[in-house]
Amino acid sequence: MKKALRFLVNDRVVETEAWEGTPALDFLRLDLGLTGAKEGCREGDCGACAVLLGERNGNGFAYRAVPSCLLALGELDGRHLVTIEGLAEGAAAAGAEGGLTPVMRAFVEENASQCGFCTPGFIISLTAWLVAGRDIDEEGAVTAVEGNLCRCTGYASIRRAAARLVAEFSGLPAEPAARLAALAAAGAVPAALPAFARGELPKARPAEAAAAPAPSGAPDAAPDATRPATIVAGGTDFYVRNVDPEPREGFALLGRDPRLRGIVRRGSVLEIGAAVTIAEFFASPEIRAAVPGIEAYEGSFASSLIRNRATLGGNVANASPVADATAMLIALGASVRIERPAAPGAGRGVPLESFFLGYKRLDLAPGEIAAAFLLPAAGPFRFSFEKASKRKSLDIAAVNSALRLELDGGRVAMARLSAGGVAATPLLLEATSNFLTGREISAATAIEAARSAAAEVSPIGDVRGSAGYRSRVLERLVLGHFARLFPETQAGIAEEVLR
Ligand SMILES: Cc1cc2nc3c(=O)[nH]c(=O)nc-3n(C[C@H](O)[C@H](O)[C@H](O)COP(=O)(O)OP(=O)(O)OC[C@H]3O[C@@H](n4cnc5c(N)ncnc54)[C@H](O)[C@@H]3O)c2cc1C
Ligand code: FES
Ligand code: FES
Repeated sequence: MKKALRFLVNDRVVETEAWEGTPALDFLRLDLGLTGAKEGCREGDCGACAVLLGERNGNGFAYRAVPSCLLALGELDGRHLVTIEGLAEGAAAAGAEGGLTPVMRAFVEENASQCGFCTPGFIISLTAWLVAGRDIDEEGAVTAVEGNLCRCTGYASIRRAAARLVAEFSGLPAEPAARLAALAAAGAVPAALPAFARGELPKARPAEAAAAPAPSGAPDAAPDATRPATIVAGGTDFYVRNVDPEPREGFALLGRDPRLRGIVRRGSVLEIGAAVTIAEFFASPEIRAAVPGIEAYEGSFASSLIRNRATLGGNVANASPVADATAMLIALGASVRIERPAAPGAGRGVPLESFFLGYKRLDLAPGEIAAAFLLPAAGPFRFSFEKASKRKSLDIAAVNSALRLELDGGRVAMARLSAGGVAATPLLLEATSNFLTGREISAATAIEAARSAAAEVSPIGDVRGSAGYRSRVLERLVLGHFARLFPETQAGIAEEVLR
């Protein structure tokens, strides 16, 4: 059950025999005595436990801020984990003023910390943004800390600290290695980061790297065939449900399997590995080229900390009726390829909407996993996603919906409308999709489609909303799709909404 793991924590190589599913936060605090990463919510909500996770892939590297409370220790093998202690040591070693990294200094100078419980998490998230952020501007900084909560300081001073950093670092090189070197020279990150990025510090053990095997403990390798193996991808659902997980046999970390992590075009089909993270999905040039405007919806999914870990496969296989990426993939016409990890390529394909058999029930036999999602090639289309939740960000939807429309002049040539939170499973609304096909784009069509969608579903009520509320919200989300995609329908839709 225990596995030999070897990885880098700050500038120190750690070799340990441990259960792979141990939360990394516990290992840091209890085994290594590194208590800078704090235990706040232990549910991915507060960001107090954030750490930087570095990995090398091919000739490249990536560092991302992730919540260590939802991170399996086995994910660290061959990788680099950086804590707030490591950042402080790096700043001291670089002779930085006051032994502070520039992010820490900005916090001190702007009084952006009070009790300090949340501060390590903020510093880690902002450091990750300097290392990898697409935009070194205030909006980019705010996005970077959207998963970090502060209970006492208030966010104005944190914003001011971010503004200082924008002024100081807006000229950072775009090329990742050059940027990392510049940040190390400024004392913003320890020298161990560029060294790891160059491959000078521990890599995965050769046997593992060469074989690229199914992850250890993968379903078919479970020692006791009568006990189904536990599959974990990003862990953002698993660890919320298993706060103190009991060590168990047959623990499969899908994120370790490079076969499940690619986005590749095969002929006319775009194949997305199930362990591709939500952040990778939205950042992918292939996805952006295939789905017009998809990047606009990234911010509606959790926080950047969660998106850096959560996978598409986990979103679908968790079988939540309100999973956001699932609603998008259904509207996009995705099918899921189901495989046994020991027999890659020998799987079967199922349209995604048919993969859900009932509440939390999937068309998945023991030992099978969702290996990839296949997006069919298509002509030009428009795409919209809408979500209603209590909070604007970092919240699970009460109801969500996505719409994919192909047009022929001013008419709908083909429509796929999905909805979540209005049944026990995510749905393709076939009747409304069929209704739309051939219709003229107009406010009247939008209004009829919205009514059709509400009539097509039979939701049940729960803490996030009554049955009536859910039908009504779905109606509004369908109107929202049209108002977003066809501004000329907005006046007519507004009249209907205000009536
Ligand atoms: C703070 C917070 C905010 C969140 N916000 C959102 C949100 O806005 N929108 C949203 O949709 N979700 C949200 N979630 C839920 C969660 O992040 C997503 O559902 C995520 O995509 C799950 O992916 P994962 O890789 O972390 O799944 P995991 O936790 O690793 O796995 C989830 C389940 O799926 C199974 N599984 C995983 N991958 C596979 C596979 N390939 N084949 C078969 N079984 C598999 C696992 O066994 C497990 O039962 C949020 C979660 C948190 C903690
Ligand atoms: S402890 Fe709150 S996100 Fe990990
Ligand atoms: S400084 Fe106290 S929680 Fe942020």
